[in-house]
Amino acid sequence: MTIQFGYELQARDGKARRGVVHTPRGDIQTPAFMPVGTAGTVKGLLPEQVRATGADIILGNTYHLMLRPGAERVARLGGLHAFMRWDGPILTDSGGFQVMSLASLRKIDEQGVVFKSHLDGSEHAMSPERSVEIQRLLGADITMQLDECIRLPAPHAEAERAMQLSLRWAERCKAAFDPAGGGRALFGIVQGGTERDLRLRSAEGLVGIGFDGYAVGGLAVGEPQEVMIRVLSETLGALPEDRPRYLMGVGTPEDMLLSVAEGIDMFDCVMPTRAGRHGQAYTRFGRLNLKNAKHAEDLRPLDEDSDCPAMRDYSRAYLHHLVRSQELLGAVLLSWANVHYYHSVMRDARRAIEEGLYADHVAATREAWARGDE
Ligand code: GUN
Repeated sequence: MTIQFGYELQARDGKARRGVVHTPRGDIQTPAFMPVGTAGTVKGLLPEQVRATGADIILGNTYHLMLRPGAERVARLGGLHAFMRWDGPILTDSGGFQVMSLASLRKIDEQGVVFKSHLDGSEHAMSPERSVEIQRLLGADITMQLDECIRLPAPHAEAERAMQLSLRWAERCKAAFDPAGGGRALFGIVQGGTERDLRLRSAEGLVGIGFDGYAVGGLAVGEPQEVMIRVLSETLGALPEDRPRYLMGVGTPEDMLLSVAEGIDMFDCVMPTRAGRHGQAYTRFGRLNLKNAKHAEDLRPLDEDSDCPAMRDYSRAYLHHLVRSQELLGAVLLSWANVHYYHSVMRDARRAIEEGLYADHVAATREAWARGDE
């Protein structure tokens, strides 16, 4: 019998949840961080390295892969898992968010979105049905509905229009989705800006349609951290306990710890790899900028107690040199260290929830970040 997609809640501490998402391609221990593999690669890292950092699942992007190399081509080549040599679960984002942030000349209407590629200016159309089809061609284990994410701050009427459109698209995605015997999952996305009434109506509407998991979208788009946490605290109570909750595109290690306290189970963010390419390291002593001259003759590694080679075996002086020289290896080592650190934040959070010590754990971790290591 094939394994069905499902969520198992194992422990709770306040609103924080420790659980497991079961998929036919393996379990995902939650709270979980999903490294972003936008174009069929977690930038700078080998798939086996990504796995060794502690990743149970990675994310891929409909928008990028439909433009290059093309969803039909990926399908002919055996699907995204075989193409990129990642045999664990893959969640694919639906494309709407990336269209809004990357493409030009967008036109959104009831039918879907028409846009020009950021690569060559060619025109493309994407409907909710086509987004679901592309994600099926890629071989996604978790498919995201097509949604419209607006910029914040936004007037109530604008947030309401995009939320209602996203709900109607959710319904169409559900109708177009083939669960493949229960092995594949479809997630709805809560929208509604920073408005409590809209978020609740969005969540209730999605729960009425019925999804395998629920994402919260439209956050970390410029609003202060406390607004994001307030929206989560007002929204998550309307979502079912027996489904995973995924906060899209978030965030810093601190954003993740505070969101877990509200009941979020899954995260994705480009931050660890993007920051790594820009010379930044996330560590248990806070964020370090390896470009800074103060590291030039510092023989300490990023963290001598880490079990990640990139954090433990290379001196800050060497990393500083690599970053200053714009050497590829600097980006590789810092991306590796950062993705590893993000997973260790999630692992420690899971343990603290199991032990019923989550609030103390968050306080101690934030204190260590603030203290630094000098
Ligand atoms: N990634 C970050 N935020 C969002 C969002 O609101 N919608 C989608 N589809 N992806 C996102």
